[in-house]
Amino acid sequence: MNSRPSASECFVYITLPGQLSAVTAGKFVLKTTPRGDALGQFVYRGKYLEDPRSVEIDPVELKLSTRTYETAQLNGTFSALRDAGPDYWGRRVIEKHAGKAWFGEMDYLLESPDDRAGALGFGLNTVPPAPLRKFNKTIDLEKLQTLADALIKDDFPNDLEATQIRDLLLLGTSMGGARPKVVVQDENGLWVAKFNRADDRWNSARVEHAMLRLARECGITTSPSRIESIGGKDALLIKRFDREKTANGYTRARMVSGLTILRADEALEMRARWSYVILVEELRRIVADARRDARELFRRICFNALISNIDDHPRNHAVIAHEKDWKLSPAYDLTPSPVVARDRRDLAMDCGDQGRYANKKNILSQRARFLLQQDEAEKIIDDMKRQVDATWYDTVRASGVSDQDAETIRGAFAYPGFSL
Ligand SMILES: Nc1ncnc2c1ncn2[C@@H]1O[C@H](COP(=O)(O)OP(=O)(O)OP(=O)(O)O)[C@@H](O)[C@H]1O
Ligand SMILES: [Mg+2]
Repeated sequence: MNSRPSASECFVYITLPGQLSAVTAGKFVLKTTPRGDALGQFVYRGKYLEDPRSVEIDPVELKLSTRTYETAQLNGTFSALRDAGPDYWGRRVIEKHAGKAWFGEMDYLLESPDDRAGALGFGLNTVPPAPLRKFNKTIDLEKLQTLADALIKDDFPNDLEATQIRDLLLLGTSMGGARPKVVVQDENGLWVAKFNRADDRWNSARVEHAMLRLARECGITTSPSRIESIGGKDALLIKRFDREKTANGYTRARMVSGLTILRADEALEMRARWSYVILVEELRRIVADARRDARELFRRICFNALISNIDDHPRNHAVIAHEKDWKLSPAYDLTPSPVVARDRRDLAMDCGDQGRYANKKNILSQRARFLLQQDEAEKIIDDMKRQVDATWYDTVRASGVSDQDAETIRGAFAYPGFSL
């Protein structure tokens, strides 16, 4: 039951391309229908629509228009707004911080800080607040790691003030995902820092860093990454691709997830839409350079299949817009999984005529949708298989992964079923 009423309307702010502060784009209202269902409404503000610089919030649902948009999905939350909100990890931190039992979807948007992915912001005032200037520094990482560990164990130090938690940990919670992470700043800009967890089976930070390197070697676009070791613990730092540092602040790129592009969600009954084949079709309509992005997505499918990244769900794909045009974002969240099965492994999304089967023939079966000729598609796959086979071990070791960890994940790479 609700222990207190939750917010039912808020303003949606947006930082326009090239700008350092936000304007008000529109209003989001959550209602309950007479039948008790949640209904979300969004309207762009007239003044926003009149401004020639204005851009759409997302390329799928909330196009620039005077109409009142309505949705009954996701408890009344529009998909692109949900993308800007916290996910499992962020929700945990926010609940801990606010110390109340019940949160509505809008509360999470309002309680989460302004370092969220993309260009949106949320608030109760018609006028957006000044942009966030205070970020954790990379030198705070040790403290942040300790707090993250304590939160996982549900063991927050008693002497820690709520405001300290806000300052230290909350910044970063708006980023999605389930793993503990924070956002930190250095002289080059903003980074997502992902921590290891005590229950990880291998050094995740180093292995993910290695996968980003291996992906680059396979011709896939990724953000720069590096390892910071603090107090004997490693954190992976990935440069944020949706923020650009300028002399006076940060510009922000819009960003929406694959879930939004697929008009899907995480509910089981929506998983029929979890498909690379549908994703590439939608992508081709949305992005400025369809040929480039379709090929890039094809490479990512091959790569995920070759490293057994079976956590390649739609939220691990995104499109971004630095200016007006949309494009596929750099690849992120690449994790190998040493599944035992040798003949058949499944990706999280359909990738061919045989569904989710992470297999060369299956991936090739839909290559035309990726605007590839048969010989081009085969060459991409064969070259990548050779590359992964020949270099994964060296890349992993050169990234500081221990020999023992490398052996633990060995079974993930170019598994036999890929070439069956
Ligand atoms: N370099 C980046 N720049 C901007 N946004 C990013 C970057 N890396 C990740 N994100 C955003 O942060 C979210 C969480 O990151 P990531 O997927 O790496 O975390 P995770 O906790 O491992 O996720 P999962 O729950 O899928 O395991 C992503 O879904 C994406 O929206
Ligand atoms: Mg993720």
